[in-house]
Amino acid sequence: MKILVTGGLGFIGSHVVVELQEQGYEVIAVDNLSNTSKEVVDQIASITGVQPTFEELDLREKESVVNFFDRHNDIGGIIHFAASKAVGESVENPLLYYENNVNALVLLLQQVQDRELGFIFSSSCTVYGQADELPITESAPIKPAESPYGNTKQIGEEIIRDTCRVKPNLSAIALRYFNPIGAHESAKIGELPLGVPQNLVPYITQTAIGVREQLSVFGDDYPTRDGTAIRDYIHVVDLAKAHVAALQRLIEKSANDNFEVFNVGTGTGSTVMEVVRAFEKSTGQPLNYKIVDRREGDVVAAYAQTDKAQRVLGWKSKYSLEEALASAWAWEQQVRSRKN
Ligand code: UD1
Repeated sequence: MKILVTGGLGFIGSHVVVELQEQGYEVIAVDNLSNTSKEVVDQIASITGVQPTFEELDLREKESVVNFFDRHNDIGGIIHFAASKAVGESVENPLLYYENNVNALVLLLQQVQDRELGFIFSSSCTVYGQADELPITESAPIKPAESPYGNTKQIGEEIIRDTCRVKPNLSAIALRYFNPIGAHESAKIGELPLGVPQNLVPYITQTAIGVREQLSVFGDDYPTRDGTAIRDYIHVVDLAKAHVAALQRLIEKSANDNFEVFNVGTGTGSTVMEVVRAFEKSTGQPLNYKIVDRREGDVVAAYAQTDKAQRVLGWKSKYSLEEALASAWAWEQQVRSRKN
């Protein structure tokens, strides 16, 4: 079956293309290359032995999107990653985020709403804000978004839910990711943050390799076991496999409801300092860090209740935090050796 992966050359998208190809799916990847490069296609091919079909496509351009679907009427599933994801940038430039993450989604759904199709949306645990209860279940209330980025994920879910209600041929799953980290074991694909990384793990690996001087740990006065904030860090390969499991469910039409949501996390929360220590232990690299003030907008703690994904999708994460951090480190070393 032919599967369209939008944002297919991005961090999570590229890992999903690999998993799909390894499960025998035929993949068409599209990407506007705003935050990645075409070389990823060759890297994917060298991992899987199969060249994915790639088209450069900007989902905000209606004519190109219409033209794309005119040429491809045999797509059985869409996994939609193409979106912007920098929280700070979304505060500075909200309309860019509403255009990239909301307009593009609407355009895409307009083209496929009457097709017999499975649709997977990359959502985020950010929709829960600071949840009242931990671990967070899928039925936890959605909290007011902390940023335009977070808002686009909430709106995206609503757009898909409302569309599915009136389009019975369409069935969709929103996957609410916790904190994706790490890279493929081949170290041929991984995360390539533009400029200064905003996320913890790329900041750690860039500090260890000497691109950044020091990691700032944002706050050690949170009400947690060591005072630093708690997150659920999930290996991107585990996350990619969750997409294949979700796709399988859509293809088999095993759900009663044509819109479902699932948490995708490990179920285990780690503090920032636990991540730092786990990195040092698994890589042998000492890390230069200092404690600074809290970062605005950060929640104290978020980790997933993963029972629903396990029960319904038959999916569960396999990699440990140490393994995920070691893979992120192998990727960082590989990136730098290519640059030098
Ligand atoms: C962030 C976004 C979230 C988005 C996710 C995508 C914010 C507030 N949230 O999640 O909406 O879905 O990225 O990956 O930006 N930390 C440090 N020093 C650093 C960087 C991070 O101490 O240099 C800490 C943070 O305070 C946090 C933890 O590490 O406690 C994880 O941070 P990060 O990787 O940015 O992820 P989130 O903030 O959880």
